[in-house]
Amino acid sequence: MKHDAIAVIDFGGQYAHLIATKIRRLNVLAEIRQPEDPVERFEKYKGIIFSGSPDLSSHGEDASFNDRIFDLDIPILGFCYGHQEVAKRYGGEVVHGGREWGPAQLHIVRDHPLFKGLDKTEPVWMSHFDTVSAIGDDFEELGYSTTGAHSEPNRFAAIGSDKLRRWGFQFHPEVDDTLHGQEILSNYVVDICGCRPSWTMDRYLEDQIERIRQQVDGKSVFLLISGGVDSSVAAQLFSRALGPDRLCLLHVDNGLMRHEESRRVLASLRGIGLGDNLHFIDATTDFLTALDDLVEPEKKREAIGNTFIEVFQREAKKLGIENHLLGQGTIYPDTIETGGTKRADTIKTHHNRVPLIEEMITRGLVVEPLADLYKVEVRELGGRLGLPREMLDRHPFPGPGLGVRLLCSTGEEPSDDISTMTAELAPVAGPFALQAMALPARSVGVKGDLRTYEHPVMFSGEARWETLLNASSAAFREVSGINRCIWNLGPTHPRETKPLRATVTDKRLALLRQADHAVMEGLKRYGIYNDIWQCPTVLIPLQLDGKGSELVVIRPIYSKRAMTAVAAELPGGLLDDLRREILSLPEVSGLALDLTSKPPGTIEWE
Ligand code: XMP
Repeated sequence: MKHDAIAVIDFGGQYAHLIATKIRRLNVLAEIRQPEDPVERFEKYKGIIFSGSPDLSSHGEDASFNDRIFDLDIPILGFCYGHQEVAKRYGGEVVHGGREWGPAQLHIVRDHPLFKGLDKTEPVWMSHFDTVSAIGDDFEELGYSTTGAHSEPNRFAAIGSDKLRRWGFQFHPEVDDTLHGQEILSNYVVDICGCRPSWTMDRYLEDQIERIRQQVDGKSVFLLISGGVDSSVAAQLFSRALGPDRLCLLHVDNGLMRHEESRRVLASLRGIGLGDNLHFIDATTDFLTALDDLVEPEKKREAIGNTFIEVFQREAKKLGIENHLLGQGTIYPDTIETGGTKRADTIKTHHNRVPLIEEMITRGLVVEPLADLYKVEVRELGGRLGLPREMLDRHPFPGPGLGVRLLCSTGEEPSDDISTMTAELAPVAGPFALQAMALPARSVGVKGDLRTYEHPVMFSGEARWETLLNASSAAFREVSGINRCIWNLGPTHPRETKPLRATVTDKRLALLRQADHAVMEGLKRYGIYNDIWQCPTVLIPLQLDGKGSELVVIRPIYSKRAMTAVAAELPGGLLDDLRREILSLPEVSGLALDLTSKPPGTIEWE
């Protein structure tokens, strides 16, 4: 092996690849391995990490887990489910319960090389149902956790045996919300496993150019280019690897683009020298026809994904390039949240992972040079390839476009008991001097590693940002069946809400475009566009107090990799501008700001 490397065993948690990517940021190669891989496969690694898992309770049997891995004389560190596996293997016990989601404090009980450079108390991120309740004789507790000022300690949040070279953390050092997670990973990978940092982004670029040339093998590549960061970087990478003549680009206006987007995209692609082999098609009618009548988020995604392929195949035929391979700017989170690792729960299907594409991938007809990278890394690679900053700094925009920001509904009252939820919310919101109501709409979210499809809560009342966030946390803790909280920017708390039948239509898209444009321009005017990771604007087909047909929700977030996110506060002046611009539109029933972190919400509402 050219590089010292770490094996990350993927038990199916969403974060397995995140662990690998974080290790690569240390310039150490990390590779994903499956738990049932033959033990010999692991011998070449200088260290092993066990990931978390969405559905494997440590009580249950996981027959395919090759526990001979424990016989190897290689350091092993487990996170979450992996931590519980380590504990159990060496005489510890795991119980169902003690679940924690979100921020917690780790209290480190003694100096240890894993915690070199850290404080005695550290902010960490938890996402689990089961906990370690006892540890084996060779093991010691290295840290316990608490989730609030007066909360009971959760024992064994960090455990280990230096003699056996086995350790485990209940928390996730790989997520950005664990403040010094990267230091902990570095302590493990560099100090404990002894890996030398030789794996760099320049190296990645060279490797990918080589890989593209090998896979494409004298043929050419056809790439659908949205103009977003990923497809633009992929295009430039293909152009570098194959030369512009062997790259054919097609920009499809799917009718789900933002205000004037296609015109701008074509201009900027020409501006970076990718204009020679660039084609454009307006396929709005194809997409809107495919979406006609659809309501369920996954059905909408599937229809959009399949229409992309139909349009792509039709246009490829017209252009006479059916033998080209299909290039995609798929990045890592697109694959993982579709259930891209072997066991990850399907949180949603990304448009570039629909069955037709999956089938082409199996036949080796798809080239995806960014599939191991997160957005920050794609931006870094784009910088290496010389793309202009304003192209690289654009907010991410999902492939299915406004299609996932236009919520649809049959108009029927939900089967869940919304009024009971609202009654349960009253004592939660009261202490924060807020009013609360569960809304008869549903959106996609994620809890633990599982997908949810639950109700938003609307808070009304004047409050500081911190108070609103605390009220949201309390609501998620106390009331089940909800996965989002929003803050009403309208003048009064609604007494009555009515779901309306709505699908993806031209008219709704036009309204969404107008609201989204107002938000984007506002972020730029207030100079905060680049601080904010992304800011979807969403339409929900709800009438409030007999008025309008669309509740508009603005979702500004801070994030680093889109795997987790926190809601971003917007300046009061900007909120006033948006109230003026959006609340005055006749179809609009209300305006609200999303307060939800990810988890329990996702970034897009779907
Ligand atoms: P969620 O909603 O899962 O989104 O928190 C995570 C990130 O992925 C983007 N996103 C997509 N990007 N195709 C894409 O290219 C898709 O189908 C898709 N769905 C979500 C989303 O905007 C966010 O940045």
